[in-house]
Order: sequence, then C-alpha cells, then structure tokens
Amino acid sequence: MGERIAVLVSGNGTNLQALLDDAFCGPRISLVLADRPAIRALERADAVGVETLVIEPSGYPDRDAFDEAVTSALVRHGADVVVTAGYMRLLGRAVLDVFDGRWLNTHPSLLPSFPGMHGVRDALAHGVKVTGVSVFLVDEGMDTGPIVLQEAVDVRADDDWHSLEGRILEVEHRLLPRAVRALVEGRVHVEGRHVTITEGNR
Ligand code: GAR
Repeated sequence: MGERIAVLVSGNGTNLQALLDDAFCGPRISLVLADRPAIRALERADAVGVETLVIEPSGYPDRDAFDEAVTSALVRHGADVVVTAGYMRLLGRAVLDVFDGRWLNTHPSLLPSFPGMHGVRDALAHGVKVTGVSVFLVDEGMDTGPIVLQEAVDVRADDDWHSLEGRILEVEHRLLPRAVRALVEGRVHVEGRHVTITEGNR
C-alpha cells in the first residue's frame, strides 16, 4: 500500500495531533481535509506545514455532490489511506468505492454500543460501567465496519462528559496511530468482520 495519509477532521483535532506526533504516521500525513474553516485541527496542520483543504457541504447542492467533491480531492491528492478522526459527517458511497479497506475511523465507545455522534454522552446516559474506544474500517453503515482495535475504559461513578471524554481520548491517541501504521504497512488482514493485525517491528 502507498504511504500518503489523508486525515479528515471537523473540530479540535487531538487525534490528528497524535497522528502528527507519531514517528511513523506524522511524516506520511500529506493532507488534512476539513468540513469547516477556522477549526483548531487546521491550525495543528498549519503549524507543521501539512497541506490543508476545506470542503464545506454548503457549497454543494446535495450529499452526493459533496461526497464526489471530497472523493475527487482525495484522489487528486494521491491519498492512499484515509483517516476520519473526529470528522462529524457521514460520507457516502463515492468515498467508499475508492477507499474501501483503506479508510479508518475512530469512535469513542465500544462498538456496536453507542454509535453515532455522541458516543461518550450516550454511554454516560445509559449508565454503563465500561465503555471505550473502537478503531474500525469504514463500511457503508454508521460505525458498523470491521473493528481493527478496541480497548475498554472504565466509567467512574463521578465521571462527567469531560472527565470520561479525556480518558477516552488518551486511549484513542494510542490506538489510532497503531492502527494507521498497521494499515499502511499492509499488516491489517480482513476476513468478513474479522480483522487480524500481524506483528511489525514496533
Ligand atoms: C474523538 O473522540 C472521536 O472519536 C470522536 O470525536 C472526537 C474528536 O476529537 N468522533 C466521533 O464521535 C465520530 N462519530 P478530536 O477532534 O480531538 O480528535
């Protein structure tokens, strides 16, 4: 697999930062694509001189046209691997047609529990004692793709959204670069829903 990594972001970009700081992933990130301007994630990319691009849905008549614009930007850029890291938008078939098996997403819960935009809030509201992080290969569903890495995070009695989200982010910052590296190195093997990672030199 080629080595150009594109990261899609919508907000703060702490997961992007973890990827930028990773000795393997950082130098391979060649594009940061956002769905809105003036977000912290874009500043993080600017700070290290990584190319950025903003493609806003409001510039397109419908979702398909937006998906096409995102896809062609990624293709034009020569992206080999796509990572959605806090990208708060569901992309469609066009992206998947090109990047199926080469597109990772990180989610703040133990999927299939609490998919969607509010994984941390929903887990807290449900009263679970354990939640966590899932890094998965994107398929056509909402947070339904084959799980590459997953790790549990205990929910404490006194947790609020901020405290729990903080501990979940710490785990994401560890898992996501590992999964991206394994994918780029061709060490991620998928059979149906079952993913195995063969060992690398790390
Ligand atoms: C992360 O916790 C990520 O898993 C979550 O948003 C946060 C973004 O943080 N994504 C989703 O909930 C997607 N459904 P960041 O911008 O600091 O990386």
